[in-house]
Formats: sequence, C-alpha cells, structure tokens
Amino acid sequence: MTPTRPIRVLTGITTSGTPHLGNYVGAIRPAIAASRATGVDSYFFLADLHALIKVQDPARVQRSTLEIAAAWLACGLEPGRVHFYRQSDVPETNELSWLLTCVAGKGLLNRAHAYKAAVDRNRAEGEDDDAGVSAGLFMYPVLMAADILLFNAHRVPVGRDQVQHIEMARDIAQRFNHLYGAHFTLPEAAVDAQVATLPGLDGRKMSKSYDNTIPLFAPRETLRRLVFSIVTDSRPPGEAKDSEGSALFQLYQAFASVAETQAMQAAFASGIAWGDAKAQVFARIDAEVAPLRARYDALVADPALIERQLREGAARLRDEQATPFLRSLRSAVGLRDLSACPPAADGDADPAAARSRPVALQFKQYREVDGRFHFKLLDGTGGVLLQGAGHESARDAGQLLARLRTSGGQGLREGDGGMLYLGDTLLGVAGEGIGVHVLQAALASLRDADDG
Ligand code: TRP
Repeated sequence: MTPTRPIRVLTGITTSGTPHLGNYVGAIRPAIAASRATGVDSYFFLADLHALIKVQDPARVQRSTLEIAAAWLACGLEPGRVHFYRQSDVPETNELSWLLTCVAGKGLLNRAHAYKAAVDRNRAEGEDDDAGVSAGLFMYPVLMAADILLFNAHRVPVGRDQVQHIEMARDIAQRFNHLYGAHFTLPEAAVDAQVATLPGLDGRKMSKSYDNTIPLFAPRETLRRLVFSIVTDSRPPGEAKDSEGSALFQLYQAFASVAETQAMQAAFASGIAWGDAKAQVFARIDAEVAPLRARYDALVADPALIERQLREGAARLRDEQATPFLRSLRSAVGLRDLSACPPAADGDADPAAARSRPVALQFKQYREVDGRFHFKLLDGTGGVLLQGAGHESARDAGQLLARLRTSGGQGLREGDGGMLYLGDTLLGVAGEGIGVHVLQAALASLRDADDG
C-alpha cells in the first residue's frame, strides 16, 4: 500500500464556560484518544472569537479560555503532536471570514438553527424578528466555516447540534471554489454515535444551560457532595433498583470498565442502598479524575506557560499554513499587486461584449494535500468546469489530461453518481451547474484552438 497523507481533523471549543464531566466524557476524552491514532493530523483550538457572541463579560472570556486550555492539557493533549491554538491568535481567520462572507448567501444564514431559534422566540413573544439578535450571532456559521476552511480540514468532530454548520461550511466552500477555483477541501462532520451524553444532577442531559453540571475539576470534596446530590428515587436499601434510566448508573458506566459496570448492575438488582451506590460512583470518578486534577491545578497556577504554548502553536500554523494560504486566496479574488496588472482588453467597458468574448479555457495540474495528482479544467473566469479525480502519479494524470485535451469532447459521458468518464476511464466530476454537453462543447472548442 502506498502511504497516504494524514487526514486533518479539526475542532473548536467555545470558551464560554467551565469544563464539566459531560464535556470530558463527550468531547475531551474521545478527542484526545482520537488524536493519538496514526494517520491523523489534529487541530484543536479555543474558539474565543465565537465566545464573544454569547459572553460579554471580558473577565469570564479570559478565565474560561484559561480553564479550557488547562483542562485539555491536563487530560493529555500533547501540544507537540497536535496543533493547539487560540482562534484570536490567527488573524487570518477573520480575513478569510470576510472573503467567505462575500460569497455566503444571506438566505443560507437565515436558515441557521441558532438564528432561527432566536427569531422564533421573538415571534412567540410578539417582538420584532431580530430583537436582541447581534450580527455576530447571524454570522456565526461563516466564522466557523473560516476556522475549518483555513486549514482545509477533512473531518470535523462535532455534536449533533453543529452538523448544520459543517454543511454550511461545505456550501460556502463550494460556492467559493466555483467562483475562484478549487481552493478549499469540502469538510465533513463526524458525529460519534458511540459517545454517550452524560446525565446531569437532575437526570437531564448535563448542560450549562440546565445548571445541572458537575465541574470536571471541582475539588474532591465538592465532587463528592455533588455526586451525593444526584437525584434518585426513594427506594429503601434492600429493594431492587433499575439501572436502566438511572442517572447515577449512567454516570458510573461512563467511567467504569465493562466488568465493573456489570457488577454495579447486579448490585442495583440486589438492592444496594443509594448512599452506597453513590459512594462507589464518586470513588470511581475520582480515581480517574484525581491525577488529571493535580495536573490541572498546577497548570492553572502557571498561566504564562499556557499562554506561551498557545502563542507558539498559532505562530507555527500561521507560518506554515495560514499566511501563505491567505496570500493565494487574496490573489484568487483579485486583491493583487497592481504592478502586475495586465492591460485592459478592448471591450471591457462593455459588459455584454466582455461576456460574448470566447472564454480562454485552461487546464491546471496540481498536487493535492492528500499527495495525489489532480487536474482541473477552468473557464476564463477561473470557474471550474471539470474537477479531475486524483491519480497516484503525475504521469497518469498527465496522460489522461492529454487524451482529454485532444478528445474534442468525444467519448465523454456521465456514469453513476454523476461521475464523468472518458471512454471507460474515470475522469472526475463536472463543476457546479455544468452539464456534460457544456463540457463537450468546451472541449471541442479547445481542440479547435489547439489545431489552430
Ligand atoms: N460552534 C462550535 C460549538 O459551539 C465551536 C466551534 C467554533 C467549532 N468553530 C468551530 C467546532 C470549528 C468545530 C469547527 O461547539
């Protein structure tokens, strides 16, 4: 097998709260485990620009950023192996956000769940649709698209509530690619069905908005008190208890091995006293969390160290990726060096004439980040007519391209799933809104031009 380039997995954590056990079980623990797999290049960042949409208390934004950074490090994130950074330390995010804003449909953003929910609430209360809605909330999905597209992430692990945002990022990326050429990888959401959502103190999903959380790094005695405050029914010791649907049992299960879980299930069935069950749950959680808590406390006591790590992470990413990428994106949209400006062609003053001018088609060959060799056919404005599939070698890609170039569009056909073929050879896919006949015509005109 040929070695493949790692896939880029990226996720952001909004810095608007204190990490709790639900965050640990549902996000931190699985994400850190996944970052240790081979073949992945992980990007974890503190989404502090996103936090400003919800939190307008500066001290809280700062404190939350410190706590979340320290929590991820304490739980085993290795800043030497993954990209760990703070969103606001990468100003290219904002610049890209504007480029994307200019291609994102307002109608698309109108449909975002978070915005729609705010509008629905206003309507229910007889308020103006947009009462209390900041433009930041409205633009949330574009900023998130910028986070993802800036590093051409392949996969974005998120909760179910964020899937729509990833789909919007794809939409926006596609629109940009269509206008300006294939700059962005289309990201995919990864929702882990294995990861359980943890119940909170009242049995509902553990969530800051329900005020039922157990802070991940609460002092030991606070953790004990909180576990003992979890609601149960009033069955006395000796009476059998249901493990199914029990918040206490689910909490235990999230920390216990399979054998331990089975033993607890048996204890429930044989009527363990709630107080004894709670003592065991507390002990099990504390056994896992205590060493992390010790590291956390040490990290929080030295915030300058975290500050340095975050800045280093961002500086490295800017040098290696964000700065050069933005340079090429700026050029793609026309923010260019004027000294290299080509003279205006005749007829440019007349848009109709400009449109009827035959478009200059061009092929581009390039190597994708996955290491494979691609080509694409662009129209005169940089719009993608055909996006070629990847090839193992530059030679394979070049040979197919040469065949296509001289084909005049003959033998071009559409197969299953909208894939295009030249004879029996897989070519790739047509650009957005481009039909096979358009491509055939384009290739015919290209051959005519080549034949001179
Ligand atoms: N919106 C995400 C959340 O609330 C946080 C986030 C910001 C994010 N930018 C992102 C997640 C980019 C994934 C990718 O959970």
